[in-house]
Amino acid sequence: MIVENRPKAPRHILSADQFDRPLLDYLYLLTNRIRRFDKSKDGSLYLQNLLSHRRAMLYFAQPSTRTFMSFQSACHILGIAGSEIRDSNTSSERKGESIEDTLRTFSSYVDLVIMRSPVAGLCNRIADLFDATDRPVPIINAGSGPDEHPTQALLDIYTLQRSFKDIGGIDGKTICMVGDLKRGRTVRSLSRLLAHYTDVHIKFISPKAYAIEDDLRQFLTAKGVNFSEEDNLLDAAPQADAIYMTRVQDEYEIEAEVSAQSYQAFHLKAEHLPLLKDTAVIMHPLPRRDELDPKIDNDPRAKYWRQERNGMWTRTALMTMLLGVDDKIVLPDL
Ligand code: NCD
Repeated sequence: MIVENRPKAPRHILSADQFDRPLLDYLYLLTNRIRRFDKSKDGSLYLQNLLSHRRAMLYFAQPSTRTFMSFQSACHILGIAGSEIRDSNTSSERKGESIEDTLRTFSSYVDLVIMRSPVAGLCNRIADLFDATDRPVPIINAGSGPDEHPTQALLDIYTLQRSFKDIGGIDGKTICMVGDLKRGRTVRSLSRLLAHYTDVHIKFISPKAYAIEDDLRQFLTAKGVNFSEEDNLLDAAPQADAIYMTRVQDEYEIEAEVSAQSYQAFHLKAEHLPLLKDTAVIMHPLPRRDELDPKIDNDPRAKYWRQERNGMWTRTALMTMLLGVDDKIVLPDL
């Protein structure tokens, strides 16, 4: 059945906009199956054999803990040999080489490039460059400046879907996104994917200086998504089915920074937990600072550690599609 319903894999993963509902559903079917495979030694050896003839380059020109490790672990799960550059000072960029030439060089050695860069739009440019060569390897955007983080959005939707499995799925849910929504790329990509679900209400909760950008407003309006922009976390918390916390992205410049003191109104603390529904989920792309109280970690509604692990499975599934072995992810007993 899976083979008949196999959607066409995108060539590259550049933006959340490349995904529609059938593609998301298929990706999560694969993700669930990969999780099951990995539970047994036979299953994980089967996965490790699928792409043991392939190589990947992880090029991360911005700091990363989770996304890097999660892609690296996804490579390990599939048997892909990974190489890495995590500091452009150690590559020939330092000798004045253009970023285009550096990335083109990677494509000479590997079958997949996974890249994070502070420059919005760079991934798209490199994808066009690769496509014009005679060895057009796929590229995955692992975060492009304040613009997009499509694979984080994929794992966030997967986490929401798993969390709401017994209460009707994502449709009809109220999702509160809290914090620096202007420069937080995870919120931008996740909001775009939520447009594929029915009757979702997104509440964007931030200080005015960190409100969402106009392009996202226009996108959501055009897609008919119900959204509101608010500035009181505690008022919104009782209606939330999910609260998605984010940190201040102060690595990017902004004219009006919000003072640490007034940002405290956008912190979720253990004392706020009684306000939340029993079925609510608390998420965070991490890393966190003070906006999410570690005392919340042991509450059953806290899903951010699960979210990390979900990222590894979702990215593994995505890589099977990009490298054309998704049709091998078939469980005999399904
Ligand atoms: C996020 C990112 O890099 O955009 N982290 C991540 O990938 N999990 C969020 C952040 O840095 O705040």
